[in-house]
Amino acid sequence: MPITAIIGSQWGDEGKGKITDYLAERAKVVSRSQGGNNAGHTVIVDDKTYKLHLLPSGILRSDVLSLIGNGVVIDPEVLLNELKQLGTKRGELMISERAHIIMPYHKLLDGAEESSRGTATVGTTGRGIGPCYGDKVLRFGIRVGDLIEPQILKEKIEANVERSNAMLKYYTKNAELESEEIFEEAKKWGEALKDMIGDTSLILKNKIDEGNEILLEGAQGVHIDLDYGTYPYTTSSNPTTAGLALGSGISPLEIKNVVGVVKAYLTRVGSGPFPGELDNEEAEMIREKGNEYGTTTGRPRRCGWLDLVMLKLSQRICGFTSLAVTKLDVLAGMEEVKICVAYETPDGRIEEMPASINRIENCTPIYEVFEGWPDMNKEEWKEAIENDSLPEQLETYLKFISEYMGTRIGIISLGPERNETIIR
Ligand code: IMP
Repeated sequence: MPITAIIGSQWGDEGKGKITDYLAERAKVVSRSQGGNNAGHTVIVDDKTYKLHLLPSGILRSDVLSLIGNGVVIDPEVLLNELKQLGTKRGELMISERAHIIMPYHKLLDGAEESSRGTATVGTTGRGIGPCYGDKVLRFGIRVGDLIEPQILKEKIEANVERSNAMLKYYTKNAELESEEIFEEAKKWGEALKDMIGDTSLILKNKIDEGNEILLEGAQGVHIDLDYGTYPYTTSSNPTTAGLALGSGISPLEIKNVVGVVKAYLTRVGSGPFPGELDNEEAEMIREKGNEYGTTTGRPRRCGWLDLVMLKLSQRICGFTSLAVTKLDVLAGMEEVKICVAYETPDGRIEEMPASINRIENCTPIYEVFEGWPDMNKEEWKEAIENDSLPEQLETYLKFISEYMGTRIGIISLGPERNETIIR
């Protein structure tokens, strides 16, 4: 039985939540592998909207086992709140004992470190993601398993609070976090979560051996990947196929399908280079019609046309076996639509994404221009989706993407609802 990884191919916010939810219908297990509550997934089921930040999208299905893997960073307060909101309307959840905990000092340090960057801020979500991954790499981190070992937890918190206070003092001059208070709080998290803590890698392996269908749900997108994104304007994890395998604790060879989720246009939140960023009526139209405001922070997203140079890099790193193209309905009714196929730079035309921020900032997109497809009323779209008979301009647009990428398009999404989807 196959394991499918779902990956954001752009700067995040491609509509992965909907695709995961859709594919979770067949899956028995959905696992999150990286990131934390910097992510935001909106899933609409039976006209009810759920905004999830940390829980896997599969949690909304009662017959699906949801896993939070070792590569995720967890803010226990957020996790407990999301669980509370769902009440009993959810499937089972297990959390890796190896996943790291976002502590109160991580959130304070996130803000303090951002401020210290002056005008060169990353534009983080302020959720403590970077400082938590930083402590993991420095080997100061507190893991989920520590929450249920009070003596170890106490010692680690004491040492970390002392260190964090010193750093906060360096940045802000006034920091006095109390380790005892934090320890008492953390013990409560352990109490509340203890029945859900386990070896999710082993659970996953057993589920694989039993022949279950499994989804690895990516968060964020390849172009804010710590290694292959527009560093340092990136997140602190690896939202790639390899990152998902590691962050869920399985062999990369187990992954048979890799679905690259591609939004029909580009958006970016936070800072960092964006060749071809639009600042005109078209951007305004896309932002409003596509509701391009951050699920996590509410920030308006920066908008632009689809960029295949970016996607080619995503394909190289992730090995997509198919693409899911989302939000095509947002572009309906536009006179023309554009796709970036190369960049003009001071050193001439290039077709590969440079690593240097400086070089990316000097890239001007070269576009192919396509005739737009007509907008239709709800009934007409419904019929077109049911019969898989899309406007020919839209088919031309999709064919171009598929041929350029050398990858078939397996899912076409024309709206937020489950039934606004075509599977090919
Ligand atoms: P952090 O992940 O909070 O450290 O933020 C680092 C950068 O990644 C910022 O530009 C964020 O806006 C961006 N980012 C983090 N998570 C997401 C996401 O889920 N979607 C889009 N951008 C994100």
